[in-house]
Amino acid sequence: MLELSDVSTFYGQVQMLRGLSLSVRKGELVCLLGPNGAGKSTTFKALTGLLPLAGGSVRMMGQDVTRTGTDKLAALGVGFVPEGRRLFPSLTVRENLKLGYDASGCKIPFETRLAAMSELFPRVQERLNQPARTMSGGEQAMVALARALIGDPELLIMDEPSLGLSPKLIDEYFDTVARIHSEGKTVLLIEQNAEKALTIANRGYLVVRGRIEVEGSREDMLADDTIRHLYL
Ligand SMILES: Nc1ncnc2c1ncn2[C@@H]1O[C@H](COP(=O)(O)OP(=O)(O)OP(=O)(O)O)[C@@H](O)[C@H]1O
Ligand SMILES: [Mg+2]
Repeated sequence: MLELSDVSTFYGQVQMLRGLSLSVRKGELVCLLGPNGAGKSTTFKALTGLLPLAGGSVRMMGQDVTRTGTDKLAALGVGFVPEGRRLFPSLTVRENLKLGYDASGCKIPFETRLAAMSELFPRVQERLNQPARTMSGGEQAMVALARALIGDPELLIMDEPSLGLSPKLIDEYFDTVARIHSEGKTVLLIEQNAEKALTIANRGYLVVRGRIEVEGSREDMLADDTIRHLYL
């Protein structure tokens, strides 16, 4: 469903991603781990078309999307949760969700999808008419996830979605992601929190200085010395 092959990117003269390859197959929940500044968000930008590639390619949903703009990816059936959530602060929760729905080109009626999101996120439902900026951090995290899911994507790509949440909310958040995965979504979860991510992931990658240093099954990752040293 997603394949990055030998991807390179630069910020000015400085090379950031150095031949990075990773893949996510249908039905998998894959995590991309890495320390601060390792290139996780750069990978997110490279695969969402926000950053041009200097080399390599990106395939998504069976298509070459190396030169496809971000706006077109949602219509392929991909939902995104960007770093920092990026809600429209002065729009209501409902309006934020409608924008996600419209971008997806989903054929199911909006109200039906909204009802599905309300079932998954009861607290979002109670606050549909509230401006997004007046929601708590935890609620905003749920809105950003609902916005990515409301168009019923097959693939969900998230960049540090649980950042800034309390330990209790982080547990709830990861439970929700696990549930979404178990109900059939394919997920790429970009995370700093290796322990939590590896609890729910099938496979993982570790990126260090723009390159994949370790990859493997959940068990391989949990047993890996580099990962244990960095995180566990
Ligand atoms: N627009 C930019 N211009 C120049 N350098 C950048 C730019 N964006 C990111 N970088 C640099 O690229 C490196 C990788 O950044 P990136 O955002 O991918 O890290 P990350 O793995 O997501 O880290 P974090 O866990 O802190 O979010 C960092 O050293 C960062 O300073
Ligand atoms: Mg980041």
